[in-house]
Amino acid sequence: MKTRPHTLSLKPQTTKLQTNSCFGLVALLLSACDISYEPLVYPDADSASAQLYQAKCAKCHNAPQPHAHTAQAWPAILHRMQMRMITKGATPLNKSELNAVLDYLQRYAAPAGSK
Ligand code: HEC
Repeated sequence: MKTRPHTLSLKPQTTKLQTNSCFGLVALLLSACDISYEPLVYPDADSASAQLYQAKCAKCHNAPQPHAHTAQAWPAILHRMQMRMITKGATPLNKSELNAVLDYLQRYAAPAGSK
């Protein structure tokens, strides 16, 4: 007779504990996200070239903003990255992808002489 009420009173406690630890985990994950990631918003983000840029250039690191470098500097950087992809055994950009990405980066690049 004594066991039954005891079992009944345990149940809500267990449920409460699970709810709390679940909430704690979610809160932890959310706070971890806040610390690690600044959402990167790229210019003309919905365009095909911006999408291509993010698909190809965010594999090893975050894709830098186009304004991180001048239009004059981008070709050499792209060349260096192509070499990195080849070294890593990844497929480098083909000619038309390379042109589209270079065009995109140069369109929104930092003004000449500013970097
Ligand atoms: C195979 C992996 C890989 C891919 C794919 C890759 N990168 Fe990189 N990237 C690196 C490594 C490693 C470094 C650091 C060493 C260096 O600067 O070369 C780097 C550095 C950079 C830097 C220098 C950091 C800075 O802001 O000055 C830029 C810019 C850059 N990458 C742009 C690109 C672009 C644009 C693409 C797409 C065409 C790209 N990366 C694709 C590996 C990669």
